[in-house]
Amino acid sequence: MEHLKLGVLCSHNGTNLQAIIDACVNGQLKAELRIVIGNNSKSYALIRAERSNIPVSHISGKTHESLDSIDEAILETLLDNQVNLVLLAGYMKKLGPKTLSEYNGRILNIHPSLLPLYGGKNMFGRAVHQAVLNANDTVTGASIHLVNHEYDVGKVLAQTKIPVNKNDTVDSLSDRVLKHEHKLYVKTLQMIERGNIKLRGLTS
Ligand code: GRF
Repeated sequence: MEHLKLGVLCSHNGTNLQAIIDACVNGQLKAELRIVIGNNSKSYALIRAERSNIPVSHISGKTHESLDSIDEAILETLLDNQVNLVLLAGYMKKLGPKTLSEYNGRILNIHPSLLPLYGGKNMFGRAVHQAVLNANDTVTGASIHLVNHEYDVGKVLAQTKIPVNKNDTVDSLSDRVLKHEHKLYVKTLQMIERGNIKLRGLTS
């Protein structure tokens, strides 16, 4: 299996990024973290990356004038760093067509629900967990899926199911789901490394 060279895109806290950094450091993953790209220069995700000596790049409407130039800058940054697998981890923007086309089938995202449930535009963060509670679901989960031009509709590669407790609030549920997300992201990357999940464009 081709050695994974990861490029991670984040917007905020970066706990999923941290789980991936930790897994690379402690040898659970053989992957190399080549670059972390953030659209928010003050995000804690970028601080986490810098603390671990991972190169970072801030690319946003503040650094580039148009969506097209943001797309080109992201693609160039990924290619310059020889990234062969792109991970979205709490990245709040849509990727542009050039990046999507070049990395088609090699961009993953994590979503805090059992997709196709509770995905799509405006379904992020607390809204997802509130919808689960409103529906009185007894089980929720997290999903890793391939990214395409629509929100949350690419092929699901891996999921984990998580119970919803009677007394759960949005906060307690999101905390529980987030802890499982960290494990799911690392486990999915291990499966890719071992060839148990095959991605088009990565040589096996
Ligand atoms: C996670 O819940 C993830 O599923 C969603 O955004 C959140 C990011 O959290 N896409 P973090 O920045 O990794 O802590």
